[in-house]
Amino acid sequence: MELLRIDTERCVRCGLCAQVCPLVIITQDEEGLPAERENTASRCINCGHCVSVCPTGALGTVHSSPEDCTPLSPKDLLDTDAAFRLFGMRRSVRRYLPEPIPPAELDRILETAHMAPSASNLRPVRWTVVEGAERLHRIAAACVETMRGSGNDFYAGFVRAFDKGHDVILRGCTTLVTAHSGPEFPWGQVDCVIAATHLELAASVCGYGACWAGFVMRAAQNSDEVREALGLPEGHAAHACMMLGRPALRYARIPSRGPVPVRRFAD
Ligand SMILES: Cc1cc2nc3c(=O)[nH]c(=O)nc-3n(C[C@H](O)[C@H](O)[C@H](O)COP(=O)(O)O)c2cc1C
Repeated sequence: MELLRIDTERCVRCGLCAQVCPLVIITQDEEGLPAERENTASRCINCGHCVSVCPTGALGTVHSSPEDCTPLSPKDLLDTDAAFRLFGMRRSVRRYLPEPIPPAELDRILETAHMAPSASNLRPVRWTVVEGAERLHRIAAACVETMRGSGNDFYAGFVRAFDKGHDVILRGCTTLVTAHSGPEFPWGQVDCVIAATHLELAASVCGYGACWAGFVMRAAQNSDEVREALGLPEGHAAHACMMLGRPALRYARIPSRGPVPVRRFAD
């Protein structure tokens, strides 16, 4: 099957599609039109770059057409200061209001996270959403049991606080989102962490709080009960767990993180 769909009337023969194809599948024929290199179409990773870069919407592939894409114009660029503030303003939120996140808003946040990069564009990340105070408490309690049985002193204070009714595991969040992937994806863990990072930022933009649930991730490695309560499919690893909810507080300033520890080399 041919990979490319070319509207020769619209194509301006700029060659940008060939320049951006990461698998070097696209070249230009003698007329300057996009052409597939012989026997390369099966390598296409459906990244959509050729379709996205085409200035006239002349190019589609068997996987995607310009009509499936969201148009972009230079005015869609974010104001730099606002964008940088967004990164600085994100905080790990540990106090939440009891109101759940409206499903449409959570869907939008997940759709944004789904745009995150993934190795070879394999998009291995699967999401599992848990809501409901009872089920969330079950997850937190199962985590605490793994801590209690670990013999690790570091956990003692957390276990004591939880036993006194303070949820130091899930912090009263209303939603717990897990990014997981199957063992067939060697970059699954990295892809999940990247996607969850996008999720955290998207939630922050929408006015929701988020916090990595590291205790849950650790407990899920050792406890079938935690994995079962998280609703993970067989064989999947919980590579990223994120608490979400409406924050019960606002931060008044961005904390200082000191100088960036960077090393530089140049010719
Ligand atoms: C992988 C990872 C796991 C984390 N696990 C937890 C956790 O289980 N509980 C918690 O309260 N915070 C957790 N955090 C949040 C960190 O403590 C937090 O990012 C750090 O203190 C810096 O604060 P900030 O995120 O507001 O900049 C985790 C963060 C990361 C990246």
